[in-house]
Amino acid sequence: MTEEIVKSALSKVMYPGFTKDIVTFGFVKDINIDGTAVSFTVDITSSAPEVAQQITDEATEALKSAGATAVNCHVQAPQMPKESSSHGKNIAPQVKNFLMVSSGKGGVGKSTTSVNIAIALAAQGLKVGLLDADIYGPNVPRMMGVADVKPEVNGNKVLPIKAYGIEMMSMGSLMEEGQSLIWRGAMIMKAIEQFLRDILWSELDCLVIDMPPGTGDAQLTLAQSVPVTAGLTVTTPQSVSLDDSRRSLDMFKKLNIPIAGIIENMSGFIAPDTGVEYDIFGKGTSTPMAKEFDTEIIAEIPIEPAVRTGGDEGKPVTFSAPTSESAKRFAAAAASIWATIEEINANGGVDNQSVQPTTPPGVSACSTGGSQAAPASSGGGCGCS
Ligand SMILES: Nc1ncnc2c1ncn2[C@@H]1O[C@H](COP(=O)(O)OP(=O)(O)OP(=O)(O)O)[C@@H](O)[C@H]1O
Ligand SMILES: [Mg+2]
Repeated sequence: MTEEIVKSALSKVMYPGFTKDIVTFGFVKDINIDGTAVSFTVDITSSAPEVAQQITDEATEALKSAGATAVNCHVQAPQMPKESSSHGKNIAPQVKNFLMVSSGKGGVGKSTTSVNIAIALAAQGLKVGLLDADIYGPNVPRMMGVADVKPEVNGNKVLPIKAYGIEMMSMGSLMEEGQSLIWRGAMIMKAIEQFLRDILWSELDCLVIDMPPGTGDAQLTLAQSVPVTAGLTVTTPQSVSLDDSRRSLDMFKKLNIPIAGIIENMSGFIAPDTGVEYDIFGKGTSTPMAKEFDTEIIAEIPIEPAVRTGGDEGKPVTFSAPTSESAKRFAAAAASIWATIEEINANGGVDNQSVQPTTPPGVSACSTGGSQAAPASSGGGCGCS
């Protein structure tokens, strides 16, 4: 055996979830050859045990086919993510962390961001779920390429749909295509609870939740049902969008949700033919707002046709065009979000006790206000105003 033969054999082993092999990634180190006995180290970035196992199995097989009689593959992986240290009410206890993706207004790219961040987190080796909590406008199934897939039902529980290495559920997957929903606030609250309680989510490191635009019943119900580890705000650079985003950030503060950052989407335009970047809606305009809320712009995602076609065709850029500028920036944002979540857990996690309804079970907070009706925008309480 020679080092060349070993490397050539190992270059047939793909890094799980990617189209590149472990040699090209530069993960293979310390190759030792003694006759036909080979030992080496694979230094990977994922902490998932199944990734290490798959690499060991495939590398051993590849080397044995190349003539090795003894193979010692040492996979060096980072530590498993720490358990969540959050407290309070959690109706989906098998989920360790919850990331709420929010925006003040519609159409700024929340769903696009949720989908790509979820896939980018999974590419880091995390077990990820994606909940489309936009009950009225569920777009995630199309963006994930599973618009025609109906979930499996198990008793009165529903199995999430699997795509691109993550688990997904959406009202769109439960309804017939093109149907619309006319629901009252209380029904939205019930639906959010059922999405958390009655979907058979696996043991997840992180559930990414794509919220409807604005700050309403869905957001409050989510915060009361599970301890939301972190919030992500998506905005576009125009001032009108920023005004609305401020409301979204303020909501995180009121609900005691730590802010993982702001994604400035549609930030500049990259021409597909020349690669030249143009400033359309402005760029970097969100920075003062980030400072105001003691957070950061964790990514500026340009307008890139591949992002839109990726969404429409159900092939998110993070997966289908990982070398595109947008995909790279989504990946960096995901890494930053995960670092924030780990830091939040290291510092004791979050607690949603203070946002629980104050009325006894079965009594609506709306009916206990006496003659002084609570103002509609009071923020706390029952959320049914
Ligand atoms: N960076 C981008 N470049 C190109 N197209 C984009 C980009 N971001 C989003 N889009 C496109 O803009 C449209 C709106 O995005 P998306 O549906 O993600 O927004 P949203 O905030 O979830 O909207 P809603 O409030 O309706 O749920 C989609 O067609 C999407 O593909
Ligand atoms: Mg959306």
